[in-house]
Amino acid sequence: MAIRNLRYEGDEILKKRSREVDVIDEKIQTLIDDMIETMHKYNGVGLAAVQVGVLKRVVVIDLYDDNGPIVFINPAILKTKGEQEVDEGCLSFPNQFAKVIRPAEVVVEYIDREGKKRKLKAKELLAQAICHETDHLNGEVFVDKILPGTLEYIEPDKE
Ligand code: NI
Repeated sequence: MAIRNLRYEGDEILKKRSREVDVIDEKIQTLIDDMIETMHKYNGVGLAAVQVGVLKRVVVIDLYDDNGPIVFINPAILKTKGEQEVDEGCLSFPNQFAKVIRPAEVVVEYIDREGKKRKLKAKELLAQAICHETDHLNGEVFVDKILPGTLEYIEPDKE
């Protein structure tokens, strides 16, 4: 496993659409392992492959709960319900936080890393993370949908 270099604000790749994964081969498995390691290293709750420079529809999310990291290949949001106003940030936009409106609940269909087709109903933070990361796969970033006037720059505490 390896830490991959993150792509940051201003990098044109973040605006590109990622391609479907056809075959879950060794290369994809390595990508997934590296994405999880990279997400953990930077204390993120989610990461899309495009953020490490790979235009494939792969997302990892970890809420640091009992579920552990969840791997989504070719995720598709089938249904959304309600709204939640939430604070959001992104590893590609360090130290920037803002309020956004996300669905309160989503139903997402995806393929797991074993190649099994799955469906998941998610709410709260997990629903938010799924929406944020699937946006990345379509070249969309959270700063394009923030509530006006809510963007804040917060430097991390010095340790
Ligand atoms: Ni992000």
